[in-house]
Amino acid sequence: MHKILAKTLFVGQNVHYMSECHSTNDIAAELSKANQITEGTLVITDTQTRGRGQRGNAWQSSKGENLTFSIVLNPKFLAAKDHFQLHYVVSVAVCNTLLKYFRNVQIKWPNDILVSRKKICGILIENSIRGQVIENAIIGIGLNVNQAGFNYDNATSFRDLTSREYDKQEILGNLLEEIEAAYLKLKSGNIGYLRRYYLKHLFQKDESALYETSGDQFVGTIEGVDDHGRLVMSTTQGHRHFEFKEVKFLY
Ligand code: BTN
Repeated sequence: MHKILAKTLFVGQNVHYMSECHSTNDIAAELSKANQITEGTLVITDTQTRGRGQRGNAWQSSKGENLTFSIVLNPKFLAAKDHFQLHYVVSVAVCNTLLKYFRNVQIKWPNDILVSRKKICGILIENSIRGQVIENAIIGIGLNVNQAGFNYDNATSFRDLTSREYDKQEILGNLLEEIEAAYLKLKSGNIGYLRRYYLKHLFQKDESALYETSGDQFVGTIEGVDDHGRLVMSTTQGHRHFEFKEVKFLY
């Protein structure tokens, strides 16, 4: 897969394809450090031997059936403290792409993408900071397309949802266009739109549900996300702000 049909200015215009690699995020970071790639470069593979997910988990994806790729961005205009704004960009872009195919698409904080309450896409954003700004952001995306069945609960794919196969190139083209559009919105200062879109599609927002923190279960209602990207919930103990690893959804 090396010809990408995306109507973009820079995202996906340069492609680094490997039939196999350990992790596209790692390859993209290495190439970036060596100044070997330009902004928007797509690093894509058919299979990863050490695909990485959030919280130090592995990302598993069967060979050639799904999309596993990374995009390099250089958001030097973005202060390191505002890093969560990149999560808005990528979540909104993936959500918008999936809404072309499905109805019930939601963003589970911070950036899992669900269709009908099951995870179809994982996102791993890794930043390099220089001084006060983000010099380099590696946007890693694993989107389940033609894989049928998963070893773990709560995962799904285009194929599992509709019992047919899809053209990965077409989906990738759509994704790259949406990522560029959302990124350019951020660059032009339109964070308000991205934030509103993110909150509108946020999973379990304004719903009472069961969560866990430090081994204790509690009922809470998601109200939004603060400027640091923490999840804001109302609970019987009042408003609480949670960092990524501090709260678990029990559903
Ligand atoms: C998650 O845990 O939900 C994030 C998964 C991110 C997986 C993608 S696949 C392409 C890129 N390379 C990696 O090693 N991880 C990301």
